[in-house]
Amino acid sequence: MMLSNIPQVGGDPLWSLIEAFNQDIRKHKMDLIVGVYRDESGNTPIMQVVKSAEQTLANQGLSKAYRQLSGNDLFNKRIARFLLGDSQRLENYCAMQTVGGTGALRLLAEFINCLSPSATVWNSEPGYINHRPIMESAGLKVKPYRWQTKDQQLDLSSSLADLASAAEGDIILLHGCCHNPTGIDPTDSQWRQLTEFCKSKKLVPLIDMAYQGFGDEPDLDAAGLRCMAQELDLVLIASSCSKNMGLYCERVGVAIVLLPENENHSQNVRHLLERITRANYSMPPDHGAALAAKLFEDPTPWLKELSECRNRIKSIRMTLGKVLDEMGAPPSLTMIARQKGMFSMLPFNKDQMDALRVKFAIYGTSNGRINIAGLKTNQIRMLAEALVSIVRQP
Ligand SMILES: Cc1ncc(COP(=O)(O)O)c(C=O)c1O
Repeated sequence: MMLSNIPQVGGDPLWSLIEAFNQDIRKHKMDLIVGVYRDESGNTPIMQVVKSAEQTLANQGLSKAYRQLSGNDLFNKRIARFLLGDSQRLENYCAMQTVGGTGALRLLAEFINCLSPSATVWNSEPGYINHRPIMESAGLKVKPYRWQTKDQQLDLSSSLADLASAAEGDIILLHGCCHNPTGIDPTDSQWRQLTEFCKSKKLVPLIDMAYQGFGDEPDLDAAGLRCMAQELDLVLIASSCSKNMGLYCERVGVAIVLLPENENHSQNVRHLLERITRANYSMPPDHGAALAAKLFEDPTPWLKELSECRNRIKSIRMTLGKVLDEMGAPPSLTMIARQKGMFSMLPFNKDQMDALRVKFAIYGTSNGRINIAGLKTNQIRMLAEALVSIVRQP
């Protein structure tokens, strides 16, 4: 190994931006960068249900002996049911607890690479910033498909036109709900169209469900995933409890492979997934998954706390949309009211995002993404004024 050969890859741009925010001394600065939920005081609190589950686990004092390679099986079963509802697909599937949603994506990417190394992963453009690096790190090719129109609505005909050149067995990466970064989700009928398209072209969906319960009730947020699960033979799912349980740093996720009804490869699928994790981190940490399993056991109080987060985001979106509308902002901005989840994409280029930061102390990512959940109610008007001022600049 030659250290002199080290490539100059540079630091992660997102974390450099956070550093710049921390050093900004302006009192009115707004951090709309990172994807964490914040309450009205700007905190990311631990949910009450998580605190009491932690207490219960501490009192139980279970052994710390190794668990299984697939992680916490109770968690795996319960999250699979949370994702799929009362589905017959729960009769033939493999679930592996993973190190967050990221770990699930990486595990599935390596799984795809073992089975079909020449498959292309089709990724929405714009898309989640880490999807491409995760897929490429596992050795897969990635190609883009368009996702949105200029006025920030779903551009399904362009998506399907781009995907028309996908080959049988290729992977289509979809966001289960609350598309990151655009907040633009397909309607039920658009999900049906996408499902039919996958069926006719024999594409395999990899559905990344990182925000179930952040856009709508969890069952509604899972409607697209469930439509695909009902109609398609092979479906890959990556999910995470980082956001909907606020377990970010505990790293709780799951990778699920739904297998065709009469398929008898499930044992082989499980063994392959286990081989991949064994050669990586062996098995995931248990604590967060044990907490999540407790929350799933009696979900009502958790779902109530989750609905409070969701309603705060919805109310900010509605108010921001209304204020922008009153100011005569274009649809590319007022659409924020109709989008879902934490993120929206401003119709701004890098220079405009720089201007937002320099002139108004408003920090979003350079591709135009802002975290709506980072806003306080008393900042909404200030943000709207800044957005309108930037959009009107020649
Ligand atoms: C679409 C999407 N997938 C996956 C992840 C990663 O989730 P985790 O933090 O659980 O690894 C995120 C986090 O921001 C995300 O937005």
